[in-house]
Amino acid sequence: MPIDCDEVAASALSGGKITHFKRLDSTNSWLQKNGQCGDVCISNEQTAGRGRRGNQWVSPATGNIYFSLKCCFDAPIQQIEHFSLLGLSVGIAVAEALADIGLQNHGIKWPNDIYWQQKKMGGILIENISPSNTVIIGIGLNVTMPEAEASKIDQHITCLSEALAKQTILKQSTQINRTKLLIAMIRQLQSHLDKFTSLAFGDFKRDWDKWDVLKNRSVTFQHKKKQITAIVAGLDQQGQLGLLEQDNQLRFYSSADIRLSKPLNKSPYKQ
Ligand code: BTN
Repeated sequence: MPIDCDEVAASALSGGKITHFKRLDSTNSWLQKNGQCGDVCISNEQTAGRGRRGNQWVSPATGNIYFSLKCCFDAPIQQIEHFSLLGLSVGIAVAEALADIGLQNHGIKWPNDIYWQQKKMGGILIENISPSNTVIIGIGLNVTMPEAEASKIDQHITCLSEALAKQTILKQSTQINRTKLLIAMIRQLQSHLDKFTSLAFGDFKRDWDKWDVLKNRSVTFQHKKKQITAIVAGLDQQGQLGLLEQDNQLRFYSSADIRLSKPLNKSPYKQ
């Protein structure tokens, strides 16, 4: 079912314009050069979708969601106290939107990957642009990802239709209403962004703890060419991940490619 942009515009946004493309290089790149504060760019397909850490975001026209929002704060981002928590807050917004449409057992893998049963379903890319109060928030959500496309991705991934079918909310053949899903995501995003500049860390932390899939888990990651195994011990006020390492020291990391140490379940997707 195609996305109904008029319905999205009528239900989800206060003021911003929605621009919808069949195919685009990247919705983040488009909003970097076009659009005003509050505008949203959606594409059915991206030919040069970008992920974090310079990765490609595989973006076929198979019914997934790729969209970006141009977000302007009242002050330069350097002056926003908890700015480093923005990506994590956007993750919470997406997780809450998925709960709004009935998904269960999903969560966020730090810093902002959307996970369902230990597999990645969505990701968030936030890019600071000029002027200094402006960011582009890009969200990619795998809604329907056939195995032929999934096999191009060097990660354990899943998609919403697989998750809902396993939850028996949806029969395998029923299509997901992407319009309603997009409205839920934009609404949650607006609501979290509205309160972001006056965010109290305690309130943020309460939301985060609800969705955090890593807490107390054993994980591995590469740091300075060394593989480190550690137990996840929560976040500090900058959103850095606390890791209790094997020398019994707690260290905080602002970026790391965290892998769960436990083996994954069987799935048609890559193990
Ligand atoms: C990640 O690596 O997990 C982040 C992926 C972000 C992908 C989205 S899709 C919409 C927007 N446009 C892009 O080129 N990237 C983001």
